Amino acid sequence: MKKQVKIGLIGFGFMGTTHWGVYKGLSHAKVVALADVDVAKRRGDVSKVVGNIGGGDNSKPIDLTGVAVYDDALRLIKEADVDVIDICVPTPWHAELVLAALKAGRHVFCEKPLCRTLAESRRIAAAVRRSDRFLNVGLCVRAWPEYRHAHEYFASGKAGRMLSATFKRISPSIDGNSWRNWYKDGRLSGGALLDLHIHDTDEVNYFFGLPKTVNSVGAKVGPGDCIDHVVTTYDYGDGRFVMAEGGWEQAKGATFEMSFTIVCEKATLKLDGSGYHIFPQKGKPITPKLDTKVGATGWHQELDYFIDCVRKGVRPDRYQTIDSVLDTMRLIFAEERSVLTGKKTRVA
Ligand SMILES: NC(=O)c1ccc[n+]([C@@H]2O[C@H](COP(=O)([O-])OP(=O)(O)OC[C@H]3O[C@@H](n4cnc5c(N)ncnc54)[C@H](O)[C@@H]3O)[C@@H](O)[C@H]2O)c1
Repeated sequence: MKKQVKIGLIGFGFMGTTHWGVYKGLSHAKVVALADVDVAKRRGDVSKVVGNIGGGDNSKPIDLTGVAVYDDALRLIKEADVDVIDICVPTPWHAELVLAALKAGRHVFCEKPLCRTLAESRRIAAAVRRSDRFLNVGLCVRAWPEYRHAHEYFASGKAGRMLSATFKRISPSIDGNSWRNWYKDGRLSGGALLDLHIHDTDEVNYFFGLPKTVNSVGAKVGPGDCIDHVVTTYDYGDGRFVMAEGGWEQAKGATFEMSFTIVCEKATLKLDGSGYHIFPQKGKPITPKLDTKVGATGWHQELDYFIDCVRKGVRPDRYQTIDSVLDTMRLIFAEERSVLTGKKTRVA
């Protein structure tokens, strides 16, 4: 077993600095190399970094003493002495870096979405299947304590058969939050559909598997047919109703909303402004005690788990497998096709 897992972090914006903060709290993880194209970030100046949820205090520079700093991510992948490559750059660059890192024999943690297109997703999946290295994707909501608890409760069968489920994720505007404002350009980010709503698409897939068809409607706001608000119904062909909604065009000061209501024969599982509760059909409501030892966010939980797997040399199977991530990518691009064509769409 490794004493310490050495990490090469690529991209030092909102997610890169968030991961940096998580690793600081993990005794068996150390960021030993960092790459970013931005000279200020390479000096540890993260004062321009902003996010739409969570995030730390970026006013003070980050001390990068002892960290090998690169301006070229591919050079870090080839040269740095690291076990894990952690990819936190904008989505269009994920595929090239994931494939290079696997080829160089590194384990990979890649932020969500896995990549920008379905063809790239299939290429990555094939490379992961050929490799003995691990890949996990930052579909962090699977690891978010409330969602994880609800998933375990549902999968145990205690709630019984699902009758209906709704998921919602509405963010304040992301305008001005990112490097060169790349989120606002749908050709890069894929809009709120691919960047934000994917978390709930992934939950639908994680909880219930792939539906037969999807029916999506959406608002095209940004350039590149950028879908910035979407509502999808997922049809399982058996009368159950599953729906998810996501968007990021609220005013800057508005609150971030993430919620779900999963109605099952024996219980309703619910996360909303009042917290996370289980309402059994019979008996009193339950407020579960959640496991937040390493931190209360899914970012803490997913990275702690992944690093532990690398340390022990045990292939990760909690939260996600490449097949399941690929299914989520198939589902999200079916939703995009449905919005663009105005038709009910099969998952390709
Ligand atoms: N899991 C989550 O909850 C979550 C939340 C936010 C963002 N994300 C994802 O994380 C990724 C990064 O998003 P972000 O919000 O941190 O973006 P950001 O704009 O804040 O940061 C991107 C960073 O990458 C750097 N960069 C750009 N191109 C590069 C390259 N080729 N090589 C090296 N560095 C490069 C930029 O200088 C910047 O520092 C995206 O894929 C996004 O979808 C995930």
